[in-house]
Amino acid sequence: MLRIGIIGAGMMGRAHQRAVAAYGARVVAVHDVRLDAAQKMAGEVGADTATDDLHAFFGRELDGVVITTPPPVRLDPVRMACERGVHLMVEKPPALTLAEGRGCLEHIERAGVIAAVGFQLRYAPLYERLKALLAGQTVHLVRTVCTIDYYLRFGMSPWFLQNPISGGPIAEQAIHLLDCVRFLLGNPKPVQAHALAVKNMAFDRTEFDAENAVQMTYELDNGVFGTHMNHCGTEKFSFDLDMVGPHLRLQANVTANRIAGYLNGQSVDEPAPAANSLGLDKTGAWLRAIETGDRALVRSDFADSLNTLALIEAAVRSRGTGRFVRVETREADE
Ligand SMILES: NC(=O)c1ccc[n+]([C@@H]2O[C@H](COP(=O)([O-])OP(=O)(O)OC[C@H]3O[C@@H](n4cnc5c(N)ncnc54)[C@H](O)[C@@H]3O)[C@@H](O)[C@H]2O)c1
Repeated sequence: MLRIGIIGAGMMGRAHQRAVAAYGARVVAVHDVRLDAAQKMAGEVGADTATDDLHAFFGRELDGVVITTPPPVRLDPVRMACERGVHLMVEKPPALTLAEGRGCLEHIERAGVIAAVGFQLRYAPLYERLKALLAGQTVHLVRTVCTIDYYLRFGMSPWFLQNPISGGPIAEQAIHLLDCVRFLLGNPKPVQAHALAVKNMAFDRTEFDAENAVQMTYELDNGVFGTHMNHCGTEKFSFDLDMVGPHLRLQANVTANRIAGYLNGQSVDEPAPAANSLGLDKTGAWLRAIETGDRALVRSDFADSLNTLALIEAAVRSRGTGRFVRVETREADE
């Protein structure tokens, strides 16, 4: 049975812990800067190590480590896992900055460990089906929308709305759909991005500087132009996606969990399949890859995720400049 450690016993640490158990692997060690949080999770799952000391955590024999800390905490745990040949699941964003992401990737490549990122839309039956429908088709334009209620109900961890920790809504929320677009189109690399972003609500909450309203435009290196609309202070959740080409317009929205539109003269209106072709979620696919050595099971590879992060970073740097920012392509060319 695979022995898994979790670093960051918060909301996503718990989600991964449940997925590890559902797969049939075991969480044996939990690390958190809040020792009580580590002890609580370890107690619930019968893990024998609960600690706020990374050396004690890595003193335990582990097959894989899940990193579910806020985005600034990546390099040290990644380095320590790699030094021990321990496989990695890193929650999104892969890192807060591209520079740190590249630092992580150096350790990962040197160690040769299997490293996945928590982009679950790549495993969603809805988007696997849409990707199959798009195979061989020409797409020119894509539009995505993400809405969520953070600035109305404040139900999230406070750091989500603090730009220095989360990277802001483009890195924290939009990243899922922007990465999904790349997945659907066969992982094109970003070319340039522009973003308008403003915080124009919840003025009394001065501890939060994340923008509630974002409009973003970008170009991918397959010639596709994309727009992304993001609002994190409105009533209802949505992850919407809409693609247009000469012979298609297809919409696939997570809340409807259907694909609707037209394709080659036929109308399309179908529910998402019940399961993906792997029969595994993102955590399960990573665990099966560790078990079997079949790296192709991982659809959200750390190295490729830096191309999504490069798009995010260009959009974030564009905020307030009125200019498009060209994407650095070093990681893509190496
Ligand atoms: N894939 C998704 O749908 C999804 C959804 C939400 C969050 N996330 C991502 O998952 C990660 C964790 O988010 P969350 O919602 O679980 O946050 P959270 O605030 O609920 O949990 C984070 C945990 O990390 C701990 N922590 C902070 N600094 C640490 C450090 N240096 N070492 C060890 N532990 C530390 C905190 O004490 C907390 O328990 C983030 O990167 C976030 O963007 C992904």
